[in-house]
Amino acid sequence: MVTLDYLLTVLYLGKGEERMSKLRRTSYVGLATVAAALTLVAVLGGLDLLGTAFADPPEDQTYTGAKRCASCHFTQYMSWKKTKHAKTFDLLPAEYQEDAKCLKCHTTGYGTPSGYKDQASTASLAGTTCESCHGPGSKHDEIAQQFKSKKTLTPEEEKLVRGSIWLMLPKNVCVECHTVQAHKKSETPPELRKK
Ligand code: HEC
Ligand code: HEC
Ligand code: HEC
Ligand code: HEC
Repeated sequence: MVTLDYLLTVLYLGKGEERMSKLRRTSYVGLATVAAALTLVAVLGGLDLLGTAFADPPEDQTYTGAKRCASCHFTQYMSWKKTKHAKTFDLLPAEYQEDAKCLKCHTTGYGTPSGYKDQASTASLAGTTCESCHGPGSKHDEIAQQFKSKKTLTPEEEKLVRGSIWLMLPKNVCVECHTVQAHKKSETPPELRKK
């Protein structure tokens, strides 16, 4: 194994044992400082004290379906309705509509406890709905409900509501489905591909 010591030795071969041990000391101190700084950033990030970290939403959220989201986000709902994401389930030919291989990308939350199962029980989660990108939103829904009758929220209330939904871009949620651009082969059967 290539250790730090080994690298330093190679770099400073013939520079004398005294210099070598001084260098070794400074390098270890340097490394320890970097490690400590990284830990601090991670801890503060987890507590969201830096204001830059994007935490996951509370774990116990379940999928609600786009209609629930629409009740408060009508504008976003209407614009999403016009996108191809709203109709990704309809792309599947009948013989593939119960195929687990396809459902993970052509429905919402497939394979998770409250995600899409089948057309009979969870039709509202067919297609790439809001929660494919924003994550399950039951807690966000619940928290926001209490302010529904208010015209304007206080900064604290707004922070509470905003903080309860997933800010997914830092996780690059898109590549979970759009794998082609991520240097992988398309999982859509070749005979069904447009290009
Ligand atoms: C009871 C009302 C209500 C429901 C239901 C609701 N939201 Fe929200 N949502 C809000 C409010 C209030 C905010 C704060 C910002 C604002 O006023 O638009 C918000 C903010 C957001 C944000 C922005 C977060 C940020 O800071 O960038 C997203 C994304 C979001 N909601 C997605 C959803 C999704 C997805 C659903 C369905 C699972 C949903 N919401 C359901 C009320 C609601
Ligand atoms: C294909 C992914 C995707 C889908 C599907 C999607 N969104 Fe978003 N949404 C985004 C992105 C990306 C942003 C901007 C960055 C962010 O907030 O993290 C965003 C931002 C938002 C915001 C913040 C305010 C705004 O308008 O910019 C709200 C509210 C929101 N979405 C609600 C919804 C609702 C409701 C639906 C379903 C009807 C939906 N989104 C479907 C990706 C998506
Ligand atoms: C759950 C899977 C899934 C996720 C997550 C997802 N997409 Fe898609 N997306 C699809 C599918 C399936 C299509 C094909 C729709 C079609 O061809 O009719 C598509 C189509 C598109 C298109 C083409 C739309 C058009 O009008 O031609 C764009 C652009 C796109 N996605 C961007 C994004 C971005 C950006 C994100 C992340 C913010 C994202 N997608 C997240 C599954 C997904
Ligand atoms: C890894 C995610 C993923 C899986 C798995 C997947 N698809 Fe797709 N599918 C997509 C995306 C993303 C698109 C949009 C076009 C693109 O980017 O390839 C798409 C597009 C399509 C289209 C429209 C034609 C086209 O080229 O746009 C059809 C039809 C389709 N998929 C069927 C299927 C079937 C059937 C299966 C299962 C055998 C399947 N897909 C599995 C992500 C997926």
